[in-house]
Amino acid sequence: MKNPIRIGVVGCGYWGPNLVRNFRALSDCNLEMVCDLSEQRLKHLRSLYPEVKGERDFDHLLNGAGLDAIVIATAVRFHFTMAKAALLAGKHVFIEKPMAASSRECEELVELAEKNKLVLMVGHTFLYSPVVKKIKEIVDNGDLGDIRYIAARRLNLGLYQKDINVAWDLAPHDISIVLHIMDEFPKSVNCRGAAHVTPGVEDVTSMCLTFRKNRSAIIHNSWLDPKKIREMTIVGSRRMLVYDDVAQLEKVRIFDARVEAPPHYDSFAEFQYAYHYGDMYVPYIKQEEPLKSECQHFLDCIRNGTQPLSDGRKGLELVRILEASSASLKQNGAAIDLQPVSSTHATQGFSVQMPHPVGFQTPHTVSAAAQAVS
Ligand SMILES: NC(=O)c1ccc[n+]([C@@H]2O[C@H](COP(=O)([O-])OP(=O)(O)OC[C@H]3O[C@@H](n4cnc5c(N)ncnc54)[C@H](O)[C@@H]3O)[C@@H](O)[C@H]2O)c1
Repeated sequence: MKNPIRIGVVGCGYWGPNLVRNFRALSDCNLEMVCDLSEQRLKHLRSLYPEVKGERDFDHLLNGAGLDAIVIATAVRFHFTMAKAALLAGKHVFIEKPMAASSRECEELVELAEKNKLVLMVGHTFLYSPVVKKIKEIVDNGDLGDIRYIAARRLNLGLYQKDINVAWDLAPHDISIVLHIMDEFPKSVNCRGAAHVTPGVEDVTSMCLTFRKNRSAIIHNSWLDPKKIREMTIVGSRRMLVYDDVAQLEKVRIFDARVEAPPHYDSFAEFQYAYHYGDMYVPYIKQEEPLKSECQHFLDCIRNGTQPLSDGRKGLELVRILEASSASLKQNGAAIDLQPVSSTHATQGFSVQMPHPVGFQTPHTVSAAAQAVS
């Protein structure tokens, strides 16, 4: 593809305008059209970008505008129908997180994209953040030793959603980072939570992902907290890292701290833990808007026929975990097993990487979970 990639964005509510701003600023694409049911939202965007056409009819965006790619930033319940229609119309597709309302929907989209050799990318924005890239580099270099556990907190007041609970809204960010760092699909998930404001829609959840070799991740999400907190602690056998995404400076701090038990001892009286306290180190990280890198990555994948870092399979993995978390919520926090399955999908035209194909052990629980979020 030599000419600029022609892009259309559907959904110009809270998040869509950020995608519009970034695609419009990138040089190797033309943001041709934005689409929203609300005339008011279109008017607002026209006032910012008078050269971009506004459209209320999604069918026209798909079939009447000659676009190469569609970016979907509507509520989760619309993702599947819109993405499917776009793939069937031969468009490359970028969908905001979470990819869809059920894993069955995600599977269908993955298959459709692979069959039609189209790029399907999911908005796991933090994978494109320079901070998360740096953390991944630190972990992969072995600077922290073996990862023991990760604890994440993503809390604030609102924004309340009507069709999904707080885990489906906020945990995708934490889960995508955790899976990226752990480089492994979890064995099981437990989730507990409570709905305080909207009946049936949990506004506080606490999720635990269990990995092999005694590793785990605890993820706490809330729409009902006075303070905006985006924090992740990675505890390694040699060092510990604290990532505070709200901090202006020093977003990442590495603590030379650990606890060691003596390798052998003869009597209980001889047993003593060794607490190690050392320096604290702040690595330099160049600031760059993650969304800009994410949008550029989508364009690069279209141009080069390559598979996105956050491709449809990564979106499917994440939705499987969310589904299982909903099932666990219904069973008062019981562990729901997650099991990798091998894939048979054809991948002509793309260098698809599938290090951790996913599956779910109890299909009846999946459908219950899918209903819970629809
Ligand atoms: N990556 C991130 O950091 C991030 C942050 C916030 C939200 N999001 C995601 O972005 C998506 C949108 O969230 P939001 O908070 O902006 O939602 P929103 O409700 O504020 O906006 C959605 C917009 O879609 C429009 N819409 C709905 N149906 C439509 C249709 N048939 N045709 C045209 N327009 C239609 C609505 O009018 C609305 O303006 C969600 O998937 C959410 O999870 C991602």
